[in-house]
Amino acid sequence: MTLGIETSCDETSFSVVKDGRVILSNVVFSSVKEHKAFGGVVPEIASRSHLEAVLSCLDDSLKKAKVSLKDIDLIAVTQGPGLMGSLLVGLAAAKTLALALEKPLVGVDHVIAHAYAGFLSDRTLSFPYLSLVISGGHTMILKMEGPSRVKVLGTTVDDAAGEAFDKVAKILGLGYPGGPEIDRLSRDEDPNRFFFTRPFLSNDSLNFSFSGIKTAVFYKVDKLKAGRGLGLKLKKQIAAGFQEAVCDVLVKKTIRAAHAEALKKVVVGGGVSANRRLRQKFGVAARKEGIGMIFPDIALCQDNAAMIAALGTALYREGKADTLDLASYPDFQKVRA
Ligand code: KG4
Ligand code: ZN
Repeated sequence: MTLGIETSCDETSFSVVKDGRVILSNVVFSSVKEHKAFGGVVPEIASRSHLEAVLSCLDDSLKKAKVSLKDIDLIAVTQGPGLMGSLLVGLAAAKTLALALEKPLVGVDHVIAHAYAGFLSDRTLSFPYLSLVISGGHTMILKMEGPSRVKVLGTTVDDAAGEAFDKVAKILGLGYPGGPEIDRLSRDEDPNRFFFTRPFLSNDSLNFSFSGIKTAVFYKVDKLKAGRGLGLKLKKQIAAGFQEAVCDVLVKKTIRAAHAEALKKVVVGGGVSANRRLRQKFGVAARKEGIGMIFPDIALCQDNAAMIAALGTALYREGKADTLDLASYPDFQKVRA
């Protein structure tokens, strides 16, 4: 039985996972409401909130799983990437438990855990497969060859996909987080009324760039405001045009990567994978190209400790074990495997 702990951003999450695949509990407490007024996550508020939530989330996760601490065999914790103050709370909790219970400790990479979450929803998944991880902080195409064997095929050179959604939402005067708002406003709108250039689509690289689309939206909005004004209808059409451009690039590059690596399964993870238009477009493209798409349940796409427990178990089975000086890191570590 593995206890997973995730505190990389604004979600405090504890989960109990059996045999590396069976989720007995997955408790998530989000401090997002406290950040809304600031239009983004405030690191100091996030880490204080983790401190306040950590013990009750631990208790809840054990109660829901109907187990006690003595049933836990392994502690898996997000080591990075993330906000350093937030990560430290999870790491301190994990180390304390490992020391007190005399159980092994494994540090887990949060981005790779998003890619690994496919195993929690698809029993037929096996290595190797492709993964697209799209969140507020990361946009990555990964070749998953094993729990610790991961190749980065593409990444963003500027904004992450979720970051672009959040920034464009701000330009349109919408709330935080912006992704769900843009998703909602775009529903039933013509995505071609406003066309935004698809950056990096014509080059061969599997890298992404989203800051140009955001700037294009900014100038478009500025021009409209100076002219006839920016009513709700125009906002919806711009949101739909922006979303279409981002989804187009994400889908086409991912399919291109799957073909280049001859991989037939793609796991999509991270908060942006909740986007309805993205799911639709992936559905159509994958059917046409003979690729199997795995979109884990929304709760497993967003930040959660079940994916940390699952990957932690797999890494431990491979022989990984960390000591109490396990350190956190803020950015994705490219060198691994
Ligand atoms: O993975 P996640 O929950 O947290 C991390 O950043 O690690 O992702 C949050 C991001 C935010 O940028 C949010 O705007 C975006 O995911 N997001 C969406 C949708 N739901 C959440 N973006 C587009 N469409 C959505 N439906
Ligand atoms: Zn995440």
